[in-house]
Amino acid sequence: MTENNKKKLKLKVSAIKNGTVIDHIPAKSLFKVITILGLDKISNQITFGTNLESGKLGHKAIIKVSDKYFKDEEIDKIALIAPHAKLNIIKDYEVVEKRVVEIPETIKGIAKCFNPKCITNNEKINTCFKVISKNPIALKCHYCEKITNENQMVIK
Ligand code: CTP
Ligand code: ZN
Repeated sequence: MTENNKKKLKLKVSAIKNGTVIDHIPAKSLFKVITILGLDKISNQITFGTNLESGKLGHKAIIKVSDKYFKDEEIDKIALIAPHAKLNIIKDYEVVEKRVVEIPETIKGIAKCFNPKCITNNEKINTCFKVISKNPIALKCHYCEKITNENQMVIK
């Protein structure tokens, strides 16, 4: 089989002309990534596939957003739930850049504070954390100063 045919066989979701391909998303986090990036609220053409085979992840998902290039801080928001996600920037059908996601220094929203007495769990206030460790993840609440660690972390 030629290299090109091998690529086509791998291509379970059609190639895009221009835009961003977010690859290596854990299948269970697909819809979280969609909402965190606000992809349910934009009019760009979006295709996605899920439960695709992947050596590393078991089952992965992929999202292709046409004519959209994300800012670093938008993309870094997905790092908490898809730390191995890879971004491919596509221009005129070619991959012109590959990027990995990085856990940001501060996290707004996305995760819940582990402290049930925290104001963010009792009033309509968005969470805000300082990331005090990235591996394993530990988040310090801006409001109650309690630490939420990776095992305790619940994504909103
Ligand atoms: N892709 C796409 N449209 C294009 C070019 C690429 O949707 N016009 C997608 C491919 O389907 C793939 C991703 O972008 O999911 C990365 O493409 P490429 O680097 O060619 O694939 P791989 O070498 O398999 O990349 P990696 O191993 O880094 O995932
Ligand atoms: Zn708190």
